[in-house]
Parts: sequence; structure tokens; C-alpha cells
Amino acid sequence: MAENVTVVVGTQWGDEGKGKLVDLLSSQADLCMRFQGGGNAGHTVVNDHGTFKLHLVPCGVFNPECLCIMGTGTVIDPAALLQEIAELEQQGVAAKNVLVSDRAHVVMPYHKLLDQVEDEARGAYRVGTTGRGIGPAYTDKVARIGLRIGDLLYENVLREKLSTILRRHNTVLTTYGQQPFDLEQLVAEAREWGEQLRSRIVDTLPITRAALRDGKRIMLEGQLSAMKDIDWGSYPFVTSSSPTAAGAAAGSGIPPRRLDQIIGVAKAYSTQVGTGPMPSELHDAQGEFLRNHGGEFGATTGRPRRVGWFDAVVTRYVCEINGCTGLALTKLDVLDSLSEIPVCVAYRYKGERIEDLPDTIIHEQCEPIYEVLPGWQSNTSELRSISDLPNNARAYLDRLAELVQTPLHSVGVGPHRHQTLLAQ
Ligand code: GTP
Repeated sequence: MAENVTVVVGTQWGDEGKGKLVDLLSSQADLCMRFQGGGNAGHTVVNDHGTFKLHLVPCGVFNPECLCIMGTGTVIDPAALLQEIAELEQQGVAAKNVLVSDRAHVVMPYHKLLDQVEDEARGAYRVGTTGRGIGPAYTDKVARIGLRIGDLLYENVLREKLSTILRRHNTVLTTYGQQPFDLEQLVAEAREWGEQLRSRIVDTLPITRAALRDGKRIMLEGQLSAMKDIDWGSYPFVTSSSPTAAGAAAGSGIPPRRLDQIIGVAKAYSTQVGTGPMPSELHDAQGEFLRNHGGEFGATTGRPRRVGWFDAVVTRYVCEINGCTGLALTKLDVLDSLSEIPVCVAYRYKGERIEDLPDTIIHEQCEPIYEVLPGWQSNTSELRSISDLPNNARAYLDRLAELVQTPLHSVGVGPHRHQTLLAQ
């Protein structure tokens, strides 16, 4: 049977290079959908159209034949979406096929302010959010007071809902010394967004139903990774949605048993943004090397990312939770000049060796157990086939795939679309 529905998820802490893979795979797809998260994504795509950092618009946008949908599980800042679409169009990328689920939630200006003041108030449990209002928007969704994208089309609904919401949020904001939001100003702003997005707001279910029925090729594009999953990640240093294959089904409305391929993306080393356990983190010159050679600075915030060696305990756990059918390793080229490459194969906790990922409190106290693999010390970025890679690079990839118990799907040797080598 054809493998028509492909999910792309992260298997570390995010920023693995999912955007680049989704761009490549979407060049053959009919539909590309974001299923969770919001503008805290920073998918970097480098292709023949140029270099782009997509925060909301799905990475399938570069294929004019591909319908792009912000799915029901996402949270959307309408002003940011409109701006991103305008910027893409200025760069010559037609975004006429970008649609938004009427059931997706709206990130409102008060969410952004709450995100900042509430995260600061968390003290030691500060998540280090991007301040884009994602957490508070999901909080309102779960509290059943959120605004949905479809609401933007109805002034009376907006006024009714916003008056209730503001009673709650203005109270909180004033206790933090912030100015309260004005109801009528927000209603007017929201109506304006609704008008500008009107032609893009859709019920996604008939679209996905028809696509499944007609055997269309569907890409489901994840953001972050299960290590930031609200249930399975390093709680509380997590995001407020489910960046997993299960979340892909829930957030897209595609039945779980219709997911054919689940590709887990991992860098050939580790990075993390924000707080949370990371046993293989490096604080030395080797860390600086990985950060500088890998360009490890946040696409959304510009913040330096935390860096470390590949952690097989983490990626094995994430691949298991997702049921990954393939492992896409990215940024192999960043390791090209190293003579030796340590890989974290297990942890030591209170003198014991452990291979299963523990929960946050124990994970924070784990020390890495390394296996050191030989480097290949040659440039891989010009190579176009896995069989052309040096033996030690192939051995490195094989060992990682073995450790995480997932067959290799592809290897990244540079940021450009054509620098992805597919395993046969
Ligand atoms: P999030 O959803 O925000 O987690 O992002 P992401 O997984 O799409 O990753 P992001 O684009 O933030 O980071 C990946 C970075 O690595 C980008 O700058 C890519 O251009 C770059 N990149 C991706 N693959 C490769 C590769 O194989 N080699 C090199 N050198 N760079 C790569």
C-alpha cells in the first residue's frame, strides 16, 4: 500500500531541522499541515527560492500545488500570520494556498503579555518561553474560554467571549502591574483580522477526508519534540501541546491508523533552548565549537542554544513514543572536522547504569555514559549519496540508528534542500 500520510516530528528538544525535511518532502505532497504549536516554531528552509524562517506558515508553501493548512491543534497570532504571508509574497512565494482551520485557537495580545509576566514569576521553574503567547493561549483553550479562528468572523461572539475573558485576564495583569486591555479595542482588532483572513478560514475536515479518500500525499509537520510534550516531555519545562504522532492525529483530524510513515528528526548532536535536563550538555570549548559550527542560535529569538553530544537515551525514548518508522539525521556536516565523537549511550544515576529515560527530577541528576566513535575528518557537504560518505561517517550513522532502534531515513549534510541524502 502507498505510504500517503507522513508525519515529521522532532526527537530531541526541537530545532532538529524538521523544516528542511518538510520542505523537501512537500515538493512531492498535495497537502501539508501544521498540527500543533504556533509562532514559537522557527522552521528554517533554504531552497531555490531563498532562505526563509517560517514561524506559522507550513513548509509546503514553496510547492504551488500543495495546499497548506494551519490545523485545528495550532494556536495562531493572526497579525503574525498575515505579516508572514505578506513577507513570503514580497519574496515571490505565492501563499494563496495557505488555509487556517476555523477550530484553531487565536493567540491574543493579552496572551503574549501573560506569557512574559507569568514565566518570570515561575522562579526556578521558569520555562524560558519565547514570549509569543503560546502557553497562555493553550491554557485558555483547555479552560474553555479561548477564542477560535472562526470566532473572528462574528462581532457579537467576539464581544461576548472577550468580555468574560478580559474580566479574568485583566485582573491577573493588573496584579502584575500591567495595564488592562480595552474590550472594544480588542473587538475591533479581532474583527479586522477576521476580515483579512476570511477567505482562508475553513473547516478542514472535508478537505482532509477528500485527500485521504483520493489517495493524496499528506505531510503533517510537527514543531519542537516529544521532550517538550505536555505529557511526555521534561515537565514543567515543556510546551503546552503534543508534538508527537499522537498529537498529529489529534491536531489534524486524520485518524491515527491512517498515519503511514512517522519520521523522527534528530541532529547528529544535541541542542536545547530553554530550561530542562540535558545530561550530555557541554559547557566547554567543544560546546562552543558545536554552537558556532552549527549556527546554534534560535531562529525565533536569536538566543544561543544549549549544546551537547548526541543523547541516544533521549532519541530512543522519543522514537518509541512516536512509533517512528524512520530516523532523519541532520547536520552531520557540523561534525566533519572532529577526530573523535562521543555519543551518550546510557546514564549513570546514583552509581547505577540506566538506559530508560527517567522523569525530570531524576533526569536532572543523571550523568552521561559515553561511547566514543572515530570521526571522519573530511568534508561531507558536497556529497549527494549515503554510499559516498566516508566509512566512519557511515559507521556513526549506523550506530546511532542501532542505538535508537529506528532505521535511517535520511542524512543532512548542509542546510540546502538538496543537501539531504535519502536512504534507499
Ligand atoms: P522547530 O520546529 O522550531 O523545532 O525547528 P526545526 O526543527 O525546523 O529546526 P530549525 O530550522 O530551527 O533549525 C535547524 C537549523 O539547521 C536551520 O538553520 C537549518 O537551515 C539548519 N540545517 C538543517 N539541516 C541541516 C544540515 O543537515 N546541515 C546544516 N549545516 N544545517 C542544517
